[in-house]
Amino acid sequence: MNQTELARIAKAMTAPGRGILAADESTGTIKKRFESIGAESTEDNRRGYRELLFTTPALAEWISGVILYDETLRQATKSGERFVDLLTRLGIVPGIKVDGGTKPLPNFPNEVITEGLDGLPARMADYHKLGARFAKWRAVITIGPDIPSTTCIEANAELLARYAAICQQAEIVPIVEPEVLMDGTHSIERCDDVTGQVLATVFDRLRAHRVCLEGMVLKPNMVISGLQASHRAGAELVAEATVRCLKRHVPVAVSGIAFLSGGQSESEASQHLDLMNRMEDLPWPLTFSYGRALQHSALEAWGGVAAQVHAGQREFSKRARLNSLARLGRYDRALEKSPA
Ligand code: 13P
Repeated sequence: MNQTELARIAKAMTAPGRGILAADESTGTIKKRFESIGAESTEDNRRGYRELLFTTPALAEWISGVILYDETLRQATKSGERFVDLLTRLGIVPGIKVDGGTKPLPNFPNEVITEGLDGLPARMADYHKLGARFAKWRAVITIGPDIPSTTCIEANAELLARYAAICQQAEIVPIVEPEVLMDGTHSIERCDDVTGQVLATVFDRLRAHRVCLEGMVLKPNMVISGLQASHRAGAELVAEATVRCLKRHVPVAVSGIAFLSGGQSESEASQHLDLMNRMEDLPWPLTFSYGRALQHSALEAWGGVAAQVHAGQREFSKRARLNSLARLGRYDRALEKSPA
């Protein structure tokens, strides 16, 4: 394992003023997103939408890396340049989602386990040849009256650690993503407890599997109230609770942290990241690895219509720019009203 190279890539992924675009929606997920704007999910539409995102002018000022889906990794722009080559040429690191999605965890109602370890070393070697330099695996933890169970947390953490070790062996930086879902009526305190337990277990397993922490990026949820909670904690509290929870459970050696947005609105996701980056003595770079919170407005402005590609790109560059400011602790809510 070339630890120096892994650490160099991980550092570039969370460099000042830049963050990660999660554009790795599986075919099923992108179909749902397209349905929401009345667009058909054909292979060429999916390719065209990804081309809109990746050819947005000045993208590399704000975006350090893009997470791709297997299909997208093999696709090219209309003029024939492979997306991986385009991104690499722009100085943006291409990454690849390698998990196989979630399945019900037997004997544990309402809990899921992430699949995809079978054959992963060989796939990882192929992805490296195709140009990917980092990967993503998402574990999902659900909060409910009697869940998550310890078994669900431990089983998912073990898989995350095995995945991370396989990545590093192929000289690919693992994004380790244990997502505690926002869905539910739970309080921010309950999210704090569960997120702490999950992070503690994940880092225990990462250590057991001898994963090099300097050569990985953590992608956690923020500590936040459930989406259906009767009272939702304010932004200051979310930022404070998130940083406190991370400080308690994430080793300083970890190269960087890039949050998922997980159902937060675009402006909430920017504001929370900004408030954290205004704090002093942060042990790691804190940035974004957003999917929905970077793409929502862009997808609506595009609407699946070729004539609206530029409108989509304008919305996307606005979100990328505002999150880049949030990465630096320089975001201002007044900027939300500025034209795209
Ligand atoms: P969201 O920001 O929409 O949660 O997506 C990020 C991601 O990559 C989830 O795996």
